Formats: sequence, C-alpha cells, structure tokens
Amino acid sequence: MLKIALVGFGNVGKSFTKVLINRAAELTRLGLEPCVVGVIASRGGLINDKCISSRMLMELVNKGLYNAFNFRVIDLMDLIKLKPDIAVVSIPPSYRTGEPNLTIYRLLMSEGTSVITADKTGLALAYWELINESKARGVFLGFTATVMAGTPVIQLIKGLRGRVVENIQGVLNATSNYVLTLVENGLTMSEAIKRAIEDKIAEPDPSIDLGGLDAAAKATILANVLGLNVSLRNVNVQSLMNLNDDYVKESTRRGVRIKQVASIDLPNRVISVKPMEVPVNSVLGSITGNYNALIIRLNDGREITVIGPTGPAEATAEVMFSDLLEYTDLLLTMGKRIKG
Ligand SMILES: NC(=O)c1ccc[n+]([C@@H]2O[C@H](COP(=O)([O-])OP(=O)(O)OC[C@H]3O[C@@H](n4cnc5c(N)ncnc54)[C@H](OP(=O)(O)O)[C@@H]3O)[C@@H](O)[C@H]2O)c1
Repeated sequence: MLKIALVGFGNVGKSFTKVLINRAAELTRLGLEPCVVGVIASRGGLINDKCISSRMLMELVNKGLYNAFNFRVIDLMDLIKLKPDIAVVSIPPSYRTGEPNLTIYRLLMSEGTSVITADKTGLALAYWELINESKARGVFLGFTATVMAGTPVIQLIKGLRGRVVENIQGVLNATSNYVLTLVENGLTMSEAIKRAIEDKIAEPDPSIDLGGLDAAAKATILANVLGLNVSLRNVNVQSLMNLNDDYVKESTRRGVRIKQVASIDLPNRVISVKPMEVPVNSVLGSITGNYNALIIRLNDGREITVIGPTGPAEATAEVMFSDLLEYTDLLLTMGKRIKG
C-alpha cells in the first residue's frame, strides 16, 4: 500500500486526483495500492487513516473540498501524523520567500515523507538545501512538473549531467507569448494584458509572468539541475510590460519578433530573463500560445532543441503522476526501503 497526502486542492490538485483514480490499477499491480489518507487546502480538509475512497475523492473534485460533509479544520501536522509515504504538493507560493511551500517541504521531509511538487519557487530559492535534505532523509523529491509542466524537460536536463552544457536559451512562459502576439496583432500592451486576464491565460496579477520571475524561477531550476548553485534572487530580470507597443508591432517587418527569453550562461554562472529580438523563423521566434521552447548548446557545438506544451493543469498532473511512478520504481528497486 502507498499512503498519499494531497496538499493543495486547486486546478492541479484536483487534476492529479483524477489521474490517480484513473490510473490506480497501475500502482496496485506493482503491489503499491494507492491510499489517499488526507486532502488539505488553505482552510482545512479531511483525513482518514483507512484511505479516502475513490468515490469520495471524486465528490471532492466535483463539489469542492469545503463542501464535504466530513470537512474539518485540520492542518498539515494532522496529516503528517498519519505518516503518508508521499505528499503531492500543489500550492501557489510567494516568489519572494517561497512560502508556504518551503516550510511544507521541510516539515514533510523531516518526518520522512517524500514530496512531489509543481511549485517552482521553493526549488528556485533553496534547491540544494532541499536536494540535500531529501538525500539525508532518504526521501524522494519529484519536481518534473516545475519547468514546461506538460513537457518533462527536467528529465532531459538530468540526462545531460554527464555532458558539458555551455548555455541554454528558452521561451519558458506561455503568458508572455500570448500577450506579445496580441500586441503584434494590433492591441496596445495594456489592452493585451487585460485581454489575457479576461481569457484566463494570465493571472489577475500578471506581473509574475510578464515581469519575468516565472521564467527566471524555471531557468534557475534548470541551472541547478546541471550542477550550478544559483538562486532566483541572483537572476537578472527585465519586465516586458514597459515595452513600447510600436516597437513590438513593427519588429516583424524587420524579420524579428520580441520574445521573453531566459538565458543560462553556465561557464559564467549568469542567468537572465529579458525581452529579446529573435528571428521570426527561428525556434524561439516561432513559439506561440501554450508552447515553450528550449535550445541547449553543448560544448562540442551541437544543439538540442525541445518544443513542447507547458500546462494546462491536466498535463501538469499527468507529469506529476510520472514522478509518482519514478518514486515507485525507486521503492521497488530499493526493496521499499527508500523511506528514512
Ligand atoms: N495550473 C497549471 O497548469 C500549473 C502548471 C505548472 C505548475 N503549476 C503550479 O502548481 C501550483 C498550484 O497551481 P494551481 O493552478 O493548482 O493553483 P490553484 O488552483 O490556485 O490552487 C491552489 C490550492 O492551494 C491551496 N492552498 C493555498 N495555501 C495553502 C496552504 N497554506 N496549505 C494548504 N493548501 C493551500 C488552495 O486552497 P484554497 O482552495 O483554500 O484556496 C488551493 O486549493 C502552483 O505552484 C503553480 O505555479 C500550475
């Protein structure tokens, strides 16, 4: 049996719950029947050490956690007392502090609970602390969904640790694509931002995406996976919200497009995110909508290019389920002794 805690029950948490229900048989076949012992959001949740049934979980997805008849004002410690093997964390954090997620990861890992997360800020602010803590505690830390969400580029980057990567450039934020395309097509920047919020592409506060912090956090994680020790706080970030409308509109006439580009210069340990001119027909220049792109340049002059979808929440949840499968692989390989 695999005891699972769901921490955060919004778009991603609910989508993950559906994936878990639909694919439970895959885990059961491995002898690791999933047992959700608790679901918690900001105001409480419910716990059941005998496992919350799939029927009840679907009811929580459809009717909302706070409408459950057995909803209680509980906190994370109540959940931790049930000793879950793994917690799936999907909570929006602060880009300045990484909280409440950082505290949640630390608490879970200190109690021997493994973690899967879609939040990028905790790892972008305290990558090596979290990695070292997970190793010291003998717990798994899965974060494949933090960068490009629906496209597991983290796994590709992990696979390149034995090679020498010179630099990486990427378009890592879909909201910026959406807004810049609207401006290219005639809207002013403020009209485009308003439209993106109405279309639910941008958050009500779009500054994290358009200001560059979201892409900066993703680039920081990639750099750390490749062995650098860098923090989101050291990334040079330049917003695209102050760009001149005419400059964006007229750029295509010159054969270029303005994109929010994240760059990692590995030998010099420099990460930046800023609006850049890229040729219209280049990989980065052709990315639109919900797609992201990454160009990885190796020291032998070769390039690896990845183009793939980022979210939505459903794809993010499926990639988090991939992390869960990786965790079960490790459990089985280690004779289920991974937990500290
Ligand atoms: N949406 C995507 O496609 C996507 C893709 C990649 C990564 N992510 C990341 O995934 C995370 C979650 O995104 P989302 O779209 O699911 O957000 P969301 O819909 O806003 O849901 C957030 C959930 O977290 C809960 N929460 C907030 N503070 C909490 C706390 N202190 N303790 C327990 N629960 C708390 C909220 O509780 P209430 O219900 O009470 O508000 C809500 O249930 C974010 O870090 C986001 O950056 C999302």
